[in-house]
Amino acid sequence: MSENPQVKVWNDTVGGAWTTHAEHFDTQLQPFGDAVLDRLAVQPHERVVDVGCGTGATTVDLGGLAQEVLGVDLSVPMLAMARQRVAAVRATNVNFAEVDVQAAPFTDTQFDVAFSRFGVMFFSDPVRAFTHIRQSLIPGGRLGFVCFGDVGDNPFMLVPVMAAAAHLPMPPMPGPTAPGPFSLADVDRTTGILAAAGFSDVTILPGPDSVTLGSADDLSAVAQRTVEQNPMSGAGMMAATPAARAAAVAAAAEALAAHVAHDNVVLAARTWVVTATA
Ligand SMILES: C[S@@+](CC[C@H](N)C(=O)[O-])C[C@H]1O[C@@H](n2cnc3c(N)ncnc32)[C@H](O)[C@@H]1O
Repeated sequence: MSENPQVKVWNDTVGGAWTTHAEHFDTQLQPFGDAVLDRLAVQPHERVVDVGCGTGATTVDLGGLAQEVLGVDLSVPMLAMARQRVAAVRATNVNFAEVDVQAAPFTDTQFDVAFSRFGVMFFSDPVRAFTHIRQSLIPGGRLGFVCFGDVGDNPFMLVPVMAAAAHLPMPPMPGPTAPGPFSLADVDRTTGILAAAGFSDVTILPGPDSVTLGSADDLSAVAQRTVEQNPMSGAGMMAATPAARAAAVAAAAEALAAHVAHDNVVLAARTWVVTATA
């Protein structure tokens, strides 16, 4: 089987931005992970797998809630940072594995809970990937994740990325179900995918509906982070000349200036918190 293109995306294209700006992104994304944790109610005796754990902030948090946690991801630089973070807090119950969860069953351990904060939208064969996730759970185990709704309902991404795109060599816009942030936007399709992967009791509820991108004191830094982090504009930034990159960041900053509230850059988002039973 040919290599999953997401390996390149998360190792080469955007992995660097996600590690460089990890603290900012974790502050932004914390409410979304918390919304999943509220629904999962992880218990101290449970074993949890954090799917697409990235730089590991949620994996560390889960280590404080559960008996044992495994973070799985296909990004080497993001996993390296996750391992550093766990070492820094001396959490002995948290481990990581470099795996593509779509490629094959990824663990012999049977977990009680599978969690993900925006780590399950990048599958070209989502039924296969969610089947592997279901196989990592005990019968009756709980799945909980947060994903994005439609691209048009997520101006926090669309506004800066479209402004920057005018200056960047952008890859073609992926279709609505192609691997990417919006691939699980359609709740009926997501319900069908999870049912086909062997999950039952699928429940999909709205998650947090805005994102604070950062302080309005430094719009340029907010714009740069946001454009570099996104798989599409991140690829465009890598391929662009320094002058085009600067123009893209300036355009994104100008677009974000219209969204300042109480000294922060705040834009609307549409997210879904999804739970299901293995
Ligand atoms: C949007 S980031 C979210 C990272 C992290 N969960 C967080 O909230 O900060 C998506 C993550 O999913 C990971 N990912 C994408 N496809 C994957 C796959 N097939 N198997 C494992 N991880 C994957 C990426 O490497 C990346 O770390």
